[in-house]
Amino acid sequence: MDKPDKIVLIGFMGTGKSTVAKVLEERLGLPAIDLDGAVTAREGRSIADIFAARGEAYFRQVESEVLASAMTHNSPAVIATGGGAVLAEANRSVMLQYGFVAALKADAEHIIARVRHDRGRPLLEGDVEQRVRSLLESRRSAYDFAHLIIDTTALTPEQVADRIQEAW
Ligand code: S3P
Repeated sequence: MDKPDKIVLIGFMGTGKSTVAKVLEERLGLPAIDLDGAVTAREGRSIADIFAARGEAYFRQVESEVLASAMTHNSPAVIATGGGAVLAEANRSVMLQYGFVAALKADAEHIIARVRHDRGRPLLEGDVEQRVRSLLESRRSAYDFAHLIIDTTALTPEQVADRIQEAW
C-alpha cells in the first residue's frame, strides 16, 4: 500500500506540534495546516473567544469539521492538530484512515515551561501547573493510537522531524 500523503501531528499542548509541522513543511515542501488556525479563521475569532462565547462543545464540533475537511482534501499536507482533537473517536479514525499519525510526548515539566507564558489556551486558565497535570492525567493514553510515538524531551524540533521522516 502507498504511504498516506498526509502527516498528522498529535500531542498534548506545548509538545511542539506547530514547530515540528513548520520544519516538515520546509523540508518536504508540503503545506503545514494548523487546525487551531483553521478553526480561528473559520469562526473569525480566537479559540479563547470561541470557548467563552459558544462553549467547548461547539469548539469541538468545529474542530472535528475542520479536521475532516483537511484530512479528506485531495493533496498532501502536514497537519498540526490541537491537543484535544484526539478525544473524539471519529477524529481518531479519520486521522488513521487518511494520514500517518505521529504523537509528540513530553513530560509535565517541559510542557508547563512551554505553555506558561502563552495566553489563549482556555483549558489552562487559572493555575497552569495544576491544570496541565490534571489534564495530562486524564489524557494519559489518549495519544497512544498513533503510528509513531516520539518522546520529544531531549530532542530538537529538527530531530523530531527526522524521526517522523524515517518512519513515514
Ligand atoms: C486544546 C489544545 C489547543 C486548542 C484548544 C484546546 C486541548 O491546541 O485546540 O485550546 O484540548 O488540548 P494546542 O495543542 O495547539 O495548544
